[in-house]
Formats: sequence, C-alpha cells, structure tokens
Amino acid sequence: MSEIIAIYPGSFDPLTNGHVDIIQRGSRLFDRIVVGVLVNLEKSPLFTVPERVEIARGVFRGWTNVEVDTFDGLLVDYARSKRASVIVRGLRAISDFEFEMQMALMNRRLSPEVETVFMMPAEPYTYVSSRLVKEVVALGGSVTGLVPDVVEERLRQKKNARETMRA
Ligand code: PNS
Repeated sequence: MSEIIAIYPGSFDPLTNGHVDIIQRGSRLFDRIVVGVLVNLEKSPLFTVPERVEIARGVFRGWTNVEVDTFDGLLVDYARSKRASVIVRGLRAISDFEFEMQMALMNRRLSPEVETVFMMPAEPYTYVSSRLVKEVVALGGSVTGLVPDVVEERLRQKKNARETMRA
C-alpha cells in the first residue's frame, strides 16, 4: 500500500503549541506530514521564512515522519509536487470555520484528488493564535506554555532588538 502524505500549510509566524499539537496528531495519523511554510511576500512577518524554518526544524528534530519545507504558489500544486493526498488544517472555533471551508472547497475545486482534513487542537490551545502571541509579547506579557520554549526565547530576542534600536 502506498504511503499517505499530508501537508500542513501555514504562515507559522511564529509556530505555536497549537500548531505543534496538530502536527503531533497528524504524525500519528499519516505516514508523513510535511509542514509547509508559506513564502508570502505580501505580509510583513515578524520572523523571516528562513528563521521560521530553522525554528520548526529544531522543534521537530527527531520526529522521523515530520518534514519542514517552504512553498509558494498554489497549495494544491505544492501538494501534488510532494505526492500528498491530504491537506491538514486546524480548527479552533466556529470563527475559523468560514474561511477554512472556503479554502477547502476552493482547493477541492482546483484539485479534487486532494482531501482537506480538519483537526482540533487540545483544549488549552483553542484560543492560541500567532497573531495574539505576537501582540502579547510585544506588550510585555508572558506566552509561556503557549509556544515552544525556543519560540519564546526568539520572541524575547526580537523584542529586545527592537527596543535597543528604538533607544
Ligand atoms: O497560517 P495561515 O496564514 O492561516 O495559512 C494560510 C495558507 C498558507 C494555508 C493559505 O494562505 C494558502 O494555502 N496559501 C497558498 C496560496 C493558495 O493556494 N491559495 C488558494 C487557497 S484557497
């Protein structure tokens, strides 16, 4: 039987424990899961794509069926290039649903052979988003336990660097 490869696409700016939770679930369910970091030139990210890849590769070092990669262009084209038949997305709350449904149905129209699978993160992460994590850290709050330790450290370094620049 051929292996089932899944893509878990996203911005991961930064990677949160909600993402890690979904990747862990996906790594149990599928033969291989590829974390696809979107190269999106339009957004102004906090972490560069190479930084996000380096962080994720560090977090998933030793997870034998998890690969970290980048992509641009259409997600379904990337999925095809990786021989992936599944797109994994996390669903935290009803508020995620509308956009996720639009993406899943558009991707299905573009590539009917690729199935989108939604997974719910563990309850402690249902309110965690990269956007909120960045906001809390920028305003001096703690995100301990909501992101991997390395992400917390890198967020602190970014904040200190910005404050030094401003001083
Ligand atoms: O972490 P995000 O920002 O919610 O991830 C969004 C992502 C990367 C899944 C989405 O922007 C995407 O798939 N972009 C690739 C371009 C594409 O295929 N667009 C059409 C999808 S309907």
